[in-house]
Amino acid sequence: MLSSNSLVFLVCVATAGVYCVTVDTPDSAVMCKDVTITWSGGVAPYIVEIVNSEDPTDTLPFNDRFNPGPTNDLNVTHIVAWEANYDVYWTVTDAQGEVGKSASVTVQENPEPGEDECLN
Ligand SMILES: *[C@@H]1O[C@H](CO)[C@@H](O)[C@H](O)[C@H]1NC(C)=O
Repeated sequence: MLSSNSLVFLVCVATAGVYCVTVDTPDSAVMCKDVTITWSGGVAPYIVEIVNSEDPTDTLPFNDRFNPGPTNDLNVTHIVAWEANYDVYWTVTDAQGEVGKSASVTVQENPEPGEDECLN
């Protein structure tokens, strides 16, 4: 059974009154470093989540301690609080429940000292 959000995502076409959210895929994501996610379309405010590609129930909501909460902007910058070598993607849900999704990227190792501090 599809959730209503997935259903909307699957059938999302730009018909009258429906504005699809298009999420850009970041060039890279490094564990415990900032990444900026940008998108277009949809209606503010937006909720951004980072999702484990292999387990879509494993998400990190944008409003947790690493993130400032729903935004009216068309981008967010947040720490990639995710272990290296996982594939992740981002979803952006708008005020009407439209969900946009980026492509997957693999979280890279962070070569700096204290590189995994953000996971503690
Ligand atoms: C993010 O959004 C803000 C406010 O709309 C804008 O000023 C800024 O240029 C945007 N940054 C990027 C990287 O798109």
